[in-house]
Amino acid sequence: MGITLQGLGYYVPEDVLTNFDLEKMVDTSDEWIVTRTGIKERRIAKKESLLDMAEKASRMALDMAKISPQDIDAIVFATITPELGFPASACLLQGKLECKRGFAFDISAACSGFLYGLEVAKGLIEGNGLKKVLLVGAEKLSDIVNWQDRSTCVLFGDGAGAVVVSNEGEGEILASVMRSDGNAWEILYAERCGYINMKGRELFKLAVRSMEEVCLEVLQKAGLSVEQIDLFVPHQANIRIMEALAERLNISMEKVYSNIHKYGNTSAASIPIALTEAYLEGRLKRGDLVLMTAMGGGLTWGATLIRF
Ligand code: ACO
Repeated sequence: MGITLQGLGYYVPEDVLTNFDLEKMVDTSDEWIVTRTGIKERRIAKKESLLDMAEKASRMALDMAKISPQDIDAIVFATITPELGFPASACLLQGKLECKRGFAFDISAACSGFLYGLEVAKGLIEGNGLKKVLLVGAEKLSDIVNWQDRSTCVLFGDGAGAVVVSNEGEGEILASVMRSDGNAWEILYAERCGYINMKGRELFKLAVRSMEEVCLEVLQKAGLSVEQIDLFVPHQANIRIMEALAERLNISMEKVYSNIHKYGNTSAASIPIALTEAYLEGRLKRGDLVLMTAMGGGLTWGATLIRF
């Protein structure tokens, strides 16, 4: 029996910030943002905290998996916008869910956080005998966006995604490849309590090249070909990055899942939100071969191939 994503869940804040709203805040235009990024609007957590979003996404994933918080052996929380300095947002979520057992911790891998988290969850199940790991990717990036910097503020949004990673079910994590390069950290970073700094053009090129490399490596590792993929779920950073990646990998855009027009870049939350929406829309079915890839601050990047 393999390791399955038994439950999926997501939550996005109620408040919508459109490109037209941004036109009133900085010197930009809807046309510039849509043609450069594919983003039309994003959600901003005005009423919700990081934990509120994470709790809602988690409860949805637990419901789909038909398990209770007391069945969770560990909570892994991927975020670069933790609720507090300490304790970990994972511990705060454990409290919110009134989960009385197991253990909880955060990981910081920016936009690759969900895929790194999946790697950790897999290790906990295979190596440590855990049965159910709640993996959450949630971000309140609006807190670290400089709303006067047009080169970054148009890109990001808030949201949360969660999955129950389980030792029961028909799915499988077939192969994964994770990378980081701490020599290039200055391309994308935020100082403690500071704003996001980004060399956008450099990152664009690196993102396409690096994600292509790990996608090809992961397919090779699993002994599968690109034609066999049913759904490609790249990190939602920029539609042009996704299109360039799909073209290089020879994946038809029909197989690429994208919701960037609605949410922008939600960092660690982007892949689990996309997976959940794809499932709810009937685009992701049990037995499908799904390729996921991400790149972000660190720099960190990776690709994971699953049988859903
Ligand atoms: N509105 C209008 N003009 C703008 C804006 C804006 N919001 N932002 C920048 N510009 C201007 C620039 O000042 C520049 O003007 P200049 O030529 O007079 O100097 C011009 O537009 C072109 O700027 P570029 O940075 O070259 O534009 P580019 O086509 O590279 O698009 C973008 C910028 C969208 C940031 C792109 O480089 C990108 O998406 N990079 C990847 C960034 C990313 O995704 N980061 C997220 C984390 S990492 C990841 O998830 C992969």
